[in-house]
Amino acid sequence: MFDGKQILLVVAGGIAAYKSLELVRLLKAGGARVRCLLTRGGEQFVTPLSLAALSGEKVYQDLFSLTDEQEMGHIRLAREPDLVIVAPTTADLMARLRSGRADDLACAVLLATDKPVLLAPAMNVRMWENPATMENLSVLEARGFHRVGPGTGDMACGEWGEGRMAEPAEILEAAAGFLADRTRLAGRHAIVTSGPTHEPIDPVRYIANRSSGKQGHAVAAALADLGARVTLISGPVRLSDPRGVAVTHVESAEDMLQACTDALPADVAVCAAAVADWKIADAARNKIKKQANGAPPSLALTENPDILASLSAPGATRPALVVGFAAETENLLENARRKLARKGCDWLVANDVSPATGTFGGDRNQVHLMTRNAQEDWPTMDKTAVARALAGRIADALEAQA
Ligand code: CTP
Repeated sequence: MFDGKQILLVVAGGIAAYKSLELVRLLKAGGARVRCLLTRGGEQFVTPLSLAALSGEKVYQDLFSLTDEQEMGHIRLAREPDLVIVAPTTADLMARLRSGRADDLACAVLLATDKPVLLAPAMNVRMWENPATMENLSVLEARGFHRVGPGTGDMACGEWGEGRMAEPAEILEAAAGFLADRTRLAGRHAIVTSGPTHEPIDPVRYIANRSSGKQGHAVAAALADLGARVTLISGPVRLSDPRGVAVTHVESAEDMLQACTDALPADVAVCAAAVADWKIADAARNKIKKQANGAPPSLALTENPDILASLSAPGATRPALVVGFAAETENLLENARRKLARKGCDWLVANDVSPATGTFGGDRNQVHLMTRNAQEDWPTMDKTAVARALAGRIADALEAQA
């Protein structure tokens, strides 16, 4: 299951650390080479000797150890594995990861790694439910960290609830699935557009919309997780660049179209950006001043290029699969079906963006996946779950075409 794979297991300080010993055994039995990194807190629960005996490898503990740095610098430790598993992931470690700390070996390695990281959180239910932890989690997930668990049940502290670390077999399965998936889109190039566009009125003002870019960024990250080379073309957003994705930052629709054209050829294009339909016909070179008579300026609009339609147009560089999104506030399905035909794309992900749904800017989304002759209604999910499901369907379609 893990033949030829290297796994770095970070064991932090929680009572669930005892389960990590079993995880090492299972990973080894599956054929993985396992190196362990034990934090100061972790040492309180399991000994380096147990981890060394089970893994058959030296255990790394100290950022400033001269011998460790000579043998295996922390950067190599971060770069060599195929996957990093953090089990247990404590609330404290999540907070430290979120803020980018590098003052111990675990944080330094997790900051330096460019490899996928699977977190297995474990903590008391109140700590897990605390808004601080939830916020840290959502930032880490948006940055591309993966998660397995926690589960619900009795806790070591005597309470009951969500926060139990996933069982070793569950972590093993998640790791195996994850590594297998990473080859599904290997050798494929994906272009993803995300976020709003800003259309200048003058040097200090612009037309924009409420898109946060969360859904598009999540799609880019999910495609990269399946092994695709991803070019994400992002309008102005307040999100970090997803890990393992090449990002081109643009402002206007014109620039976004140019960046997409420059990025071709691609096997798949996903247009999740909320591109402004109109731009100012003649943006002012200087700031527009108030007029003495108090009359407001009149702004003449002109249509922006349609990026999705131009990527969908038949031609030598048309991606094999072009996916659009439809943001609607009324007659969702009818409008989306018409949009699919009008734009010439292969699939359309339709979502209701009326204010009551909280979709624009929110974390959850309820979508309908429309193909040329079918429609699937997906349940309401996190935007990351929508992205993973969509990436999976894209991989199925490209595999079927191959
Ligand atoms: N889109 C695009 N370029 C544009 C406008 C839209 O690439 N100039 C893409 C979006 O990225 C999305 C799809 O087209 O994938 C549909 O966007 P949407 O805003 O729902 O539709 P519009 O084309 O703007 O149509 P309408 O305003 O009539 O809803």
